[in-house]
Amino acid sequence: MPLHYLLRKTGLIALAILLSLISAVPSRALDWKETPEQKEQRMKWWTEARFGMFIHWGLYAEAARHEWVKNHERMTNEEYQKYFDLFNPDLYNPKEWAHAAKEAGMKYFVITTKHHEGFCLFDSQYTDYKAANTPYGKDLIKPMVEAFRAEGLKVGFYYSLIDWHHPDFTIDRVHPLRDNQEERAKNKDRDMEKYAEYLYNQVQELMTNYGTIDCLFLDFSYPGDDGKGHNDWHSEKLLDMIRRLQPNIIVNDRLDLLDVPGGWDFRTPEQFIPLDWVKVDGKKVPWETCQTFSGSWGYYRDETSWKSTRQLLSLLIETVSKGGNLLLNVGPTARGTFDYRATERLQGMGEWMKYNSRSIYGCTQAPADFKAPNNTMLTYNPATNRLYVHILEWPMGELHLPGFAGKVKYAQLLNDASEVRFTSRPDWQSDYEGVAKDILTLDFPVLKPHTEIPVVELFLK
Ligand code: GLC
Repeated sequence: MPLHYLLRKTGLIALAILLSLISAVPSRALDWKETPEQKEQRMKWWTEARFGMFIHWGLYAEAARHEWVKNHERMTNEEYQKYFDLFNPDLYNPKEWAHAAKEAGMKYFVITTKHHEGFCLFDSQYTDYKAANTPYGKDLIKPMVEAFRAEGLKVGFYYSLIDWHHPDFTIDRVHPLRDNQEERAKNKDRDMEKYAEYLYNQVQELMTNYGTIDCLFLDFSYPGDDGKGHNDWHSEKLLDMIRRLQPNIIVNDRLDLLDVPGGWDFRTPEQFIPLDWVKVDGKKVPWETCQTFSGSWGYYRDETSWKSTRQLLSLLIETVSKGGNLLLNVGPTARGTFDYRATERLQGMGEWMKYNSRSIYGCTQAPADFKAPNNTMLTYNPATNRLYVHILEWPMGELHLPGFAGKVKYAQLLNDASEVRFTSRPDWQSDYEGVAKDILTLDFPVLKPHTEIPVVELFLK
């Protein structure tokens, strides 16, 4: 047989083998299909809301030293059991929580229905490890959902993919018993397929038994060596079920499906604000930063690193100025109440929001031709064509806004709707500094307005 013929033949065989290999790889696609416009529409309420409350609550509130306490202190289930046996939040009144969130100006909430410790706040038929079996004796989720809905907030569930209590969840590098070789050896008797089924069933319960669920925060994947990712959770199957049961739900990005179309709705930078609007493949995407008051997510009695109300407001404004949402976390105590420091900050934020929330709701990053001058942050409402200048340091008498001249119809302080007069700075002044000539100068009172961070509302031409 001539050599070139042989080569052609074996080449074709190789191609055939390659093709069969490719088709054997399971498809990473979801059943879910929608256009970018449909996605934008589905996420509209969320994008406009900008501000939500995260709640981390579980048995770890009793230890009061971080929601990862079981992991940090490498506790066994037996050592952790006392928290279950004693759990009794006698002061729990979700109406108070919902009211506090509403007063702070929050538009949605996300509750940990189960955190990494595996304890379920909801009444699942697939486990005994739930609030209903503690001395408290009742489902915590249903009344919470009802209370927040009654205050007009949208409902979000957090559910931990990780489970440090379930007998089939294999011990991996982030497990509390990671260094316990004897326990590791028992991994051969643990069956992650069974765990995946449990996870599927529980999420199905959450998607079925509580009415409309507006958002879902699944947490978290750590693929690779000794870790877990989409193959362990059966993420595609899980997400298809979620979207089938709750077609309008908004889902976060921690299922390890970043490369799958429809595999996530928004990115979740945790405890940091990105430099600029979060992008994927160069395109701006919806994002939400989740942040704590003091560092840990669960109630931590002795933490002293509490952010001030002013810092938190500035966090909210900066987030919106970059086109994102802020999900701010409260870790209620084991009595079932918000910590006094959290309450104080929520009230402080609410006081500011009462007068200034127009610069937050429905707002986003300012158009590129408006640059924020020193000590200010800008947000913009595209529907009303108003620009908001947040003034972090009250200046003495006037504020120069380079590039703004000729673009503004009217200006007022947002907190009291009092007019702010302005002029276009004369060119001869700008000539001294050799700067742009199109400076708009706002004429301010010397006294700082009576609000934590004053906002000027500019009606654009
Ligand atoms: C991290 C932590 C967890 C917290 C979550 C919030 O993934 O594991 O404790 O619930 O962040 O985003």
